[in-house]
Amino acid sequence: MVNSDYYDGKICLVTGANSGIGYAISEELLKRGAIVYMLGRNPKKVEEAAEQLSVYKDKINTIITDVTSQEQVEKAIKDTAKEAGSLDFLFNNAGIGGTLQFETATLEDWKNIFDVNVWSVIYGVNTAVPIMLKQGSGHIINTSSIAGLVPFPFQALYSLTKFGVTGMTECLKYEYADKNLHFSTICPSNIATPIFKKSIDGTVHDQIKIPDDAYPADKAAELILDRVSEHKGIIVVPEDQLIDLWHEYASEDPEADKLLLQMAAQRRDAYEKGGSYY
Ligand SMILES: NC(=O)c1ccc[n+]([C@@H]2O[C@H](COP(=O)([O-])OP(=O)(O)OC[C@H]3O[C@@H](n4cnc5c(N)ncnc54)[C@H](O)[C@@H]3O)[C@@H](O)[C@H]2O)c1
Repeated sequence: MVNSDYYDGKICLVTGANSGIGYAISEELLKRGAIVYMLGRNPKKVEEAAEQLSVYKDKINTIITDVTSQEQVEKAIKDTAKEAGSLDFLFNNAGIGGTLQFETATLEDWKNIFDVNVWSVIYGVNTAVPIMLKQGSGHIINTSSIAGLVPFPFQALYSLTKFGVTGMTECLKYEYADKNLHFSTICPSNIATPIFKKSIDGTVHDQIKIPDDAYPADKAAELILDRVSEHKGIIVVPEDQLIDLWHEYASEDPEADKLLLQMAAQRRDAYEKGGSYY
């Protein structure tokens, strides 16, 4: 059952909080009474994001952190826990996309996506778990993807990172269940955020449109926080047909194979015609 008081007065740290899902989660946490530490890499963008939420200004703190830096992530988490007196929720949300043909990816691309999507989560979890064990409670929410449950074609790099995040988070969910530490994995798909416009090296392509059928980030945040409050492990967003696809794939249903082969052909075709896979 949804616990509407789950976040009230709680200390929450969100990485990648200046944009997309991280911003929407920050806003929804504030609406639900939390104190939010918004982490981002670019000082101007983080300040602009906090400014947009200035109605909650007494409950917002900003920290400039590059999540690929172990030192910076550790410092941000330890400083927050020290200053606030606890760390109740850690949302390891920052991440980059990576839809590209396998043979065009360089080793630099592999390293870059691994640093942002995997090492950042390891740094965060590694620092937060001892703090939460000591205080006797806590909830860590790592953002994976539907591509961390189902292997979408042209996303080999991204899937490697996101299957890793799903697997690690699920292991920890069972490992720490009797210590009052909770773990959830967010598996979004097609949420309307700037991620669609960014390539793996961070270049922003303004000509690429966010798909018209993408799910609104604020609705995604509401659903995510509801499911986290229910202590759900894997949270697929939106829920409708994607959960079916995940279950079909996991049970080796030929329909899932058919769909993924069709998607490979569609993405190849779309890229050859228009330079975008979507
Ligand atoms: N939008 C979707 O459809 C979708 C689908 C599946 C998974 N996701 C995941 O959701 C998460 C949020 O993505 P989004 O869609 O909101 O995209 P976004 O691009 O709007 O947000 C990503 C955030 O991560 C931050 N970030 C990237 N590299 C960083 C670094 N080195 N240090 C600090 N911050 C860094 C960005 O600045 C940005 O604030 C990501 O982990 C992404 O993989 C999104």
